[in-house]
Amino acid sequence: MTPPPAAGGEPGSHPIDPEELVSSAVDRLETITTVAALDEAQTDLVGKRSELARAHQGLVSLEPDERPEVGRRLNEARRRIESLIGDRRRELEGGERAARLQADRLDLTEVIAPPLRGRLHIVERTRDELEDVFIGMGFAVAEGPEAETDWYNFEALHMPPAHPARGMWDTLYLDLGGPETVMLRTHTSPVQIRLMEAQGPPIYAVMPGKCYRRDTPDARHIPTFHQIEGLVVDRGISFADLAGTIETFTTAYFGPDIHSRLRPSYFPFTEPSAEYEVTCTICKGNGCRTCSHTGWIELGGCGMVDPAVFAAVGIDAEEWTGFAFGFGIDRCAQMRHEIPDMRVFFDNDVRVLRQI
Ligand code: FA5
Repeated sequence: MTPPPAAGGEPGSHPIDPEELVSSAVDRLETITTVAALDEAQTDLVGKRSELARAHQGLVSLEPDERPEVGRRLNEARRRIESLIGDRRRELEGGERAARLQADRLDLTEVIAPPLRGRLHIVERTRDELEDVFIGMGFAVAEGPEAETDWYNFEALHMPPAHPARGMWDTLYLDLGGPETVMLRTHTSPVQIRLMEAQGPPIYAVMPGKCYRRDTPDARHIPTFHQIEGLVVDRGISFADLAGTIETFTTAYFGPDIHSRLRPSYFPFTEPSAEYEVTCTICKGNGCRTCSHTGWIELGGCGMVDPAVFAAVGIDAEEWTGFAFGFGIDRCAQMRHEIPDMRVFFDNDVRVLRQI
């Protein structure tokens, strides 16, 4: 039996066997694993530049009586290859869809850890609580800048240049203006001056904020800390009003078991002046490392506004009197939450801060 005539390729090239085209398509399609690779194979197998297309073009080089038979076999080969490609496409698309569905599957049993919720730092919360106590006592809240001039931080507070009392605060100066004229404020007392300049008496205000000193960190000191300043200016204000205000604040904030005492002291901007102390909450007054074994913790300073300060801001000291105080907010938080070492506030260990 004579073998069926093969299809002509390029004129002069080897004849192409349609059966071989089908079997090599079967081999190629078996190796394909993605729809994208199948698209490529489809172009190679039945596209315009495929061997099959070339075989069709080569029909013209055959004897006229051979052409119908070879053409029929080539058409048959094309149908089979296209059908194989279709089958493979359905398989691959089905597999890819199944994989996609699997990946998107909603697992209702999966336990997802909730996002960690942040919270205000303990010092911020203490500041808010202190503000609330004073607002409840009829005080307004004011603020001032952290970078201050010599006038506000010292001079208007009755500390002229070279006054020895400036040495009470180890100051961090800024490289701005003339030497030692601009600094990070060492206390919140400059806000007293700003407030008295901006508004006349009567004044009932507290002024919380950050302060900076070149203090060596220890159990009760950190270089960046917070104070809340208080200022009352009105007619007929006396030291008794100051003592009563401090006592009211102490019981409102620390509870009835914590006692306070005022000890005579010195501040250039108040006369007379006092230190305000509360029972050490760590040792309950017995003495410990935190309170330097005294049983008392100093929370702040206070006193009657010195007439020289009134003179600096143009308030008539014959008509108006007033008192001022300045407490450490960090110290209040430390005592209220019985924290032996204040440095935990800026160590930023969230395992500790989360417990307070
Ligand atoms: C003053 O700063 C005065 N301006 C307070 C004042 C205001 C007196 C109004 C009279 C009238 P003193 O330096 O003592 O005072 O600081 C007051 C409080 O700030 C301290 O008792 C303490 O609670 C807190 N404090 C001071 N330095 C630090 C520090 N390095 N770290 C944490 N708290 C501090």
